Amino acid sequence: MPKLTVKDLDLKNKTVLMRADFNVPLDDKLDITDDTRIRETLPTIKYILQAQVKKLILISHLGRPDGKRVDKYSLKPVALRLKELLGEPVGFLDDCVGDKIKSGIASSGERVILLENLRYHAEEEANNPDFAKQLASLAEVFVNDAFGTAHRGHASTEGVTKYLKSAAGFLLEKEIRYLGGVLDDPQKPFIVILGGAKVSDKIGVIENLLPKCDAIIIGGGMSYTFLKAQGKSIGNSKLEKDKIVLAKSILDKAKALNKPIVLPIDHLVVDTIDANAKAEIVGENIPDGKIAVDIGPRSVLLFEDKLKTAKTIVWNGPVGIFEIEPFCKGTQELVKFLSELKVTTIIGGGDTAAAVAKFKMQDKMTHISTGGGASLEYLEGKILPGIAALTDK
Ligand code: 3PG
Repeated sequence: MPKLTVKDLDLKNKTVLMRADFNVPLDDKLDITDDTRIRETLPTIKYILQAQVKKLILISHLGRPDGKRVDKYSLKPVALRLKELLGEPVGFLDDCVGDKIKSGIASSGERVILLENLRYHAEEEANNPDFAKQLASLAEVFVNDAFGTAHRGHASTEGVTKYLKSAAGFLLEKEIRYLGGVLDDPQKPFIVILGGAKVSDKIGVIENLLPKCDAIIIGGGMSYTFLKAQGKSIGNSKLEKDKIVLAKSILDKAKALNKPIVLPIDHLVVDTIDANAKAEIVGENIPDGKIAVDIGPRSVLLFEDKLKTAKTIVWNGPVGIFEIEPFCKGTQELVKFLSELKVTTIIGGGDTAAAVAKFKMQDKMTHISTGGGASLEYLEGKILPGIAALTDK
C-alpha cells in the first residue's frame, strides 16, 4: 500500500500515539461481551513495544456519548481487558487531552497507557484542528490501526495526521489487503452475498461490485423489495416502497451485464416477529399477512449451489433475523457452508461478523472485517479519510 506502515517508522525511544477502534460491546454490568477488536490490535501493540519505544499512548472512542462524559462509555474496562491480553500493565488516564494528561503520561510507570474516550469531547467528531493538535502534542509519531473508524474524518483519524508522521498499523494494513484485494483483483468466479434490512444500505456496494463480480446473492430484509420488483407477493414482509424502482433497475442492469442476481425461492414466515410465533415455510410468493423472517431450505440449497462454484466470496448482511433463535437457520447454514469451502471468504463487519461469531466459525473464514460501516464504505469504493490522511510512502 502506498502509505507508510508501522514497519517504516523508526520507533526507538519515541512516544507513539496509536488510534485503535476499541468500540466494543458491553453488557449492563459493563463487561466486554466481544473483545475481538482489542485482540486484533495486539500484533501492532506488541510490535511497537518490541521496538523499544518510550511510551505507547492508545486512543479510541466507545459508543456515541455526543461530546459529553457518560460513564457507561468509559474505556476503563478496555484497559483492564488489554492488560490481561497483553500480559503487561496498562495505565489508564481519565481524559485524553490537557496538561493533567501530559503530566500523567510523563509520571506514569507503565509503558502502555490508554486514554479516556475521545468522544467525551465534541471536538473529536467535529475534527477540530486545535483538539487534533493537542492529541498530536502527546507523542512524536502516529499509528492508525482503527480500521473500524477509518470512514470517519475525525480529529483522531484525520486531523492528527497533519501534525505527526502517520502510518498504518498491521490491522489496518490487513483489512486493506483483503478488502482491497477483492476490489482490485478477485479470484474468479467472485460471488457476493448481500443481506440485512435495507436496500438503501447496500446500493453503493451493489453498484460498485456488480461490474466486478460474477453473481450477487440477495437474502434478508432487503430481498423482499427485489422480489416485489419482480412482481412477487411479499405479504407483510419488509418493503422499501420508494426503492422498488431502484431494485427493478438493478435487476435490469444485472441482466444486461449477464450477472445473475439470485433471490430466495422460499421463506420462513410468521404472523408477528416474535420468537414464540408459529413459523412455517412457504414458497416463492408470501401469503397476505405473513412476514418473512428467514430464507427457507430450498433457498439455502439454491444459494449453496451457486456458492460452490466461487473462488472468492464476500458476504455482507445476514439472510434472516439471526438474532432470534428460531429465525437463524438460513444464516447459520450459510455460515457453515462457507466455513467448509476452501476458497477466499471475506466477511463484512457488524452483523455478519456477529453471525459468524454466534456460530463459532471465526477461524474458518479467510478474513472477518473489524469494520461495519467502514467495510461497507470501502466495498462501495469510497475513499476512507482515516486511510487517505496517512503519510505517503
Ligand atoms: C463502528 O463500530 O462501526 C465504529 O467503531 C465506528 O463507530 P461510529 O459508527 O459510532 O462512528
